[in-house]
Amino acid sequence: MNETTEPDFGPLAGLIGTWTGDKGLDLAPEPDGSEQSPYYETLSFEAVGNVENAESQLLAAVRYVQVVRRKSNGELLHDQTGYWIWDAAAQTVMQSLTIPRAVCVLAGGAYSAAPTPGAGVCLQVKAKLGDPDWGVVQSPFMWDKARTLSFSHELRIEDDKLSYVETTRLEIYGRSFEHKDHNELSRQR
Ligand code: HEM
Repeated sequence: MNETTEPDFGPLAGLIGTWTGDKGLDLAPEPDGSEQSPYYETLSFEAVGNVENAESQLLAAVRYVQVVRRKSNGELLHDQTGYWIWDAAAQTVMQSLTIPRAVCVLAGGAYSAAPTPGAGVCLQVKAKLGDPDWGVVQSPFMWDKARTLSFSHELRIEDDKLSYVETTRLEIYGRSFEHKDHNELSRQR
């Protein structure tokens, strides 16, 4: 950690705050097909600050918690926590995430900004099983029965609106399945 210099959150600066949205849709695997679940969620981001690695890399990190509930009955559908991390020198965006199924992902990528200042930013990160840089780690059970093969995430922020599209490719029930999630959220004031 390094608290002496002011953190540069770069494209992550707009994330900080609490967001809610009820336009979520999940497509999840079932043994005999798939299930679509409309959902609502709270996504909270908090500044961590600067992190220094090997006295040479300076990162800025934002911690997040995502709680997703099924619209039909309020039941917990998904819980996730992690960090978004910005490496200004390498112009790299990273997302580390963990879910309570015993699956962890470290995804990496970049951002693109709309041409007009303040018009928004798009964060794009990816990970692939076996990739030495941006990979997936999972328990032996998940490896055998519900393996995560890849993960891709595109998140857009424009003022007080946030939207994302996430695709997690799974190997489950003897087939490959694209587990998809998207939602639109508003910043809580
Ligand atoms: C908004 C995001 C997400 C939602 C709402 C969601 C929801 C779900 C649901 C409803 C299932 C079906 C099984 C069940 O009913 O418990 C499922 C399965 C699964 N999800 Fe997600 N998920 C999300 C994101 C992710 C991410 C990011 C990963 C991993 C990187 C992941 C990995 C898995 C795996 C491995 C399964 C298969 C386990 C099973 O079906 O028994 N999910 N998810």
